[in-house]
Amino acid sequence: MFFVVKSIYLCRKLFKMILPKIVIAIDGHSSCGKSTIAKALAAQLGYIFIDSGAMYRAVTLFALRTNLIADGKVDEPKLISLLPQIKIEFHYNPEKQKSDTYLNGENVEDEIRQLPVSLHVSPVATIAEVRAAMVRLQQEMGKNKGIVMDGRDIGTVVFPDAELKLFVTASPEIRAQRRFDELSAKGETVSYDTILQNVQERDYIDSTREVSPLRKADDALVLDNSNMTREEQMAWVTERVKERLG
Ligand code: CDP
Repeated sequence: MFFVVKSIYLCRKLFKMILPKIVIAIDGHSSCGKSTIAKALAAQLGYIFIDSGAMYRAVTLFALRTNLIADGKVDEPKLISLLPQIKIEFHYNPEKQKSDTYLNGENVEDEIRQLPVSLHVSPVATIAEVRAAMVRLQQEMGKNKGIVMDGRDIGTVVFPDAELKLFVTASPEIRAQRRFDELSAKGETVSYDTILQNVQERDYIDSTREVSPLRKADDALVLDNSNMTREEQMAWVTERVKERLG
């Protein structure tokens, strides 16, 4: 029995090693589960997973901490001048079996998911210089392929030649409810209406900004997961990956 299990394990490992590595770009609206899909796919394929939104969130946290955001307005020239001082890294956390985001050597994974950052991240992400710096980092991370990255402009700007592009969406109400459940489970008290408003505002800013607006790449496949369970969506995505890998 042990021998059979071990052989299956080794075959799967070998299979992963000989398959050509591809780039998988997952874009879409806020809170539609892109990161969940990306994380699961990366684990299945033995790929690197990068949550590009975490990078814009880390820059936003930096701006908040250095008082560069007042009354919702970002001091753009100051933030741009301080960009060289912002170091963003991902380090694997074996306990959580996922990567944590580090800002200048500090683990900020939890803080960047909280509402103050969510409320200001989209204006920060409209700044061309911020985007150029993040895109450079993201392209560097993906230069050897074998990567799943999620965000807003991954299939259109960061990896326009990605072998598989997905565009994920769901209704704003369903996305707000999912985010509300997620934050409530962590013990945070935020109202559903505040979250819905934030989801809608971010959709608007992300889709209408001048630099790299959120849009579906022409060759991206659309996944509307409004009425899908996690299992159903993973089955759908896994089929698409199999098609691409032949
Ligand atoms: O909350 P959610 O997980 O949906 O968003 P996120 O992926 O953490 O991204 C936070 C914000 O960063 C988005 O609302 C966008 O404004 C911005 N973003 C971006 O402009 N480009 C990306 N590639 C990723 C995120």
